[in-house]
Amino acid sequence: MARDGAVYVCQSCGAAHAKWSGQCGACGAWNTLVEEVSARPPGALAPSRASKARGLAFETLEQQTPAPPRISTGVAEFDRVCGGGVVPGSAILLGGDPGVGKSTLLLQVAASAALRGAACAYISGEEAVEQIRARAHRMGLAEAPVRLAAETALREILDGLKREKFDLVVIDSIQTMWSDAHEAAPGSVTQVRAAAGELVRLAKKRGVAVILVGHVTKEGTIAGPRVIEHMVDAVLSFEGERGYPFRVLRGAKNRFGATDEIGVFEMSEAGLIEVSNPSALFLNTAGERAAGAAVFAGIEGSRPVLVEVQALVAPSAYGTPRRAVVGWDSGRLAMVLAVLEARCGLSLGNRDVYLNVAGGLRISEPAADLAAAAALASSALDQALPQDCVVFGEVSLSGDVRAVSRMDGRIKEAAKLGFRQVLGPADLDGAGLMRVAGVARLSEAISRIGEAAWD
Ligand code: TYD
Ligand code: MG
Repeated sequence: MARDGAVYVCQSCGAAHAKWSGQCGACGAWNTLVEEVSARPPGALAPSRASKARGLAFETLEQQTPAPPRISTGVAEFDRVCGGGVVPGSAILLGGDPGVGKSTLLLQVAASAALRGAACAYISGEEAVEQIRARAHRMGLAEAPVRLAAETALREILDGLKREKFDLVVIDSIQTMWSDAHEAAPGSVTQVRAAAGELVRLAKKRGVAVILVGHVTKEGTIAGPRVIEHMVDAVLSFEGERGYPFRVLRGAKNRFGATDEIGVFEMSEAGLIEVSNPSALFLNTAGERAAGAAVFAGIEGSRPVLVEVQALVAPSAYGTPRRAVVGWDSGRLAMVLAVLEARCGLSLGNRDVYLNVAGGLRISEPAADLAAAAALASSALDQALPQDCVVFGEVSLSGDVRAVSRMDGRIKEAAKLGFRQVLGPADLDGAGLMRVAGVARLSEAISRIGEAAWD
């Protein structure tokens, strides 16, 4: 039986339930319901300064709101993903797995902005000031005039931020913040929401840009950043595969800019290094291209990125063949396999299939279909694609190869990197830069690969 005022809140999606159960009825996550005592009724609180009611002031549409001014942090990859710098008075949530480099990135952002004259504070609930200072030292940022604090009590933080005027404040992490207006444990949905709410209010009221760090955890023992996504103006995620130095910053929501831009970084001994031209980063340029590899000419945000898609098709040792995919959508792989089987007569049903996107990049473009199909066919037929060939095109369920966006940009970048042929949709224009193997059907592409009929 729940105590009076107790609710069971899913730490993944924030849904509240009257009774405990093993699975959240709202989002389907398991073992994420935690008992939380709901906030005390307002009367039980110390009297707060009641906000003075103001009349609603109507304005006309004609009155132009100028484009928001931006704080350029000087970390160009970060600024780009934010839409050209950070907007004062906005709240940004930066999510990512523990250890991916969120603290490192934001310390760099704060330090860089501070060196350009912005008043910046970095408040950590996870590390002592000494630790942060040591890290800044290692990253060569010891000179940056960033104000550091180690604090988890929200009241102290808000008081501190009201005393001094800051342009940019980093809160690392929102899950460690604790508001004394609520009884729930730090890291619970109630606390995370309350703390985020207070900080966002402060951001708006005082024109401070607030960046909140949110750890993403699968266990659901601490609240996921999803529960505050609706409160903030922008949601960024920082991603990277274990074992690879590359980190990709992506926008998932942005009230002040596009969400398809990415920022690319490389984690080094001395912090994150910006990669301003990532097109060749995920490409294995050393050695011959083996059977099973296809170079996909992709677009990430505004920039072309070439990446090697690797496939392995092997006899299955077990009754149920394995399908494993890293860096691409498994549903999309299933679709491409089905089309290869049904439309191209390439039978993979009883074989293990592995697909890997090199370098730890995640690709989500449908334009990668043909590259994945080519890699799979190349492995199945044991025929390597030509060394200087790139691939792109969307594959439909009927087995057609369709045109994709920004084909000329893809071709130009591939040509710049030394590629001379492209396997892509029919009627593709090589712009004099590339020899084009245009295919209207996936089966044509597969025959070409099988016959090695390239010249
Ligand atoms: P961190 O920023 O603490 O991750 P998060 O805040 O997302 O949990 O970074 C964690 C990893 O980054 C840690 O394993 C060490 C590595 N790292 C470097 O390789 N070089 C550096 O200069 C720094 C500061 C960290
Ligand atoms: Mg951290």
